[in-house]
Amino acid sequence: MSKEQCPSPHNAAAYGDIAKTVLMCGDPLRAKFVAETFLTDAVQYNAIRGMYGYTGLYKGHRVSVQGHGMGIPSIGIYSHELFHHYDVDRIIRFGTAGALTDDMNLGDMLFAQGACTDSNYGHQFDFPAQFAPIADYGMLETAVRIARERQFPFKVGNIYSADVFYDESDRQMDWGKYGVKAVEMEAAGLYINAAAAGKKALTICTISDQLVRKEFATVEQRQSSFTNMMEVALETAITE
Ligand code: HPA
Repeated sequence: MSKEQCPSPHNAAAYGDIAKTVLMCGDPLRAKFVAETFLTDAVQYNAIRGMYGYTGLYKGHRVSVQGHGMGIPSIGIYSHELFHHYDVDRIIRFGTAGALTDDMNLGDMLFAQGACTDSNYGHQFDFPAQFAPIADYGMLETAVRIARERQFPFKVGNIYSADVFYDESDRQMDWGKYGVKAVEMEAAGLYINAAAAGKKALTICTISDQLVRKEFATVEQRQSSFTNMMEVALETAITE
C-alpha cells in the first residue's frame, strides 16, 4: 500500500501532502520560485537532498511543484515515488531543451509528443521489443489549446532524452534528420515510468539553445519564455 511507503527514501512528505498533479523541473530552486511566484498558501513538503517540493493553490486548485534533478536516473527516482508511494496521477515536467532542427527558434515551446533515448532505463520492464515513450494525449491536447489561445509560439513533436550532456561523439545532432526536434535529459524516463504505473505525464520544454544555428537565449528571452511555459503548465495542471 502506498501510504505505508511514506515518507519515501527521497521525499519527506507525508501521504496526502502532495497534490494529484505535480509540476516538476530539474532545478529545485526553480520549483521554489514557481511555488513562491505562482501559488498561494504554498507549503514546503520536501528538502531532502535540497530537492524542494511544495504544495499550494493555483486559481483555487491544489497543485504541487518539485525538483527532479538532472537525467533519467534522477527523474526516475522522484517520479517513481510520486506515482507509486504518493498516488500522484499526473506529472508535468517543464524545462529547457536544445533544438536539433532548424524550424525551432529560441523561446519556442516544444510539447514532447514522444521521446527517443539512449538510456537503458526501460530495460527493467522487459518490453517484448522497443517501447515508444509518449505523452498523455489529453494533457498534450490541453497544453496545445492553451498555447494556441495565448498565441505562444510552440511546436509538438519528438524529443531526444540523452544520457550524456557533454557528448564527445556529437551524434545527437543526427536525430534532427529524423525530425526529432530537441534534446533534453528526462522526458523518456518520465514517460516510461508513467506508462509502467498506469499514470499520465507530459513534458513541456522551451528552447534555450539552438544547436543547429549555434544560438543561445539571452537572460530576457529565458525569462519571458519561462513565464509563458509556466502559464501553460499550470493551466494544464488544473484542467481535468
Ligand atoms: N543538451 C541536453 N539537455 C539540454 C540542452 C542540451 O543541449 N539544452 C537544454 N537542456
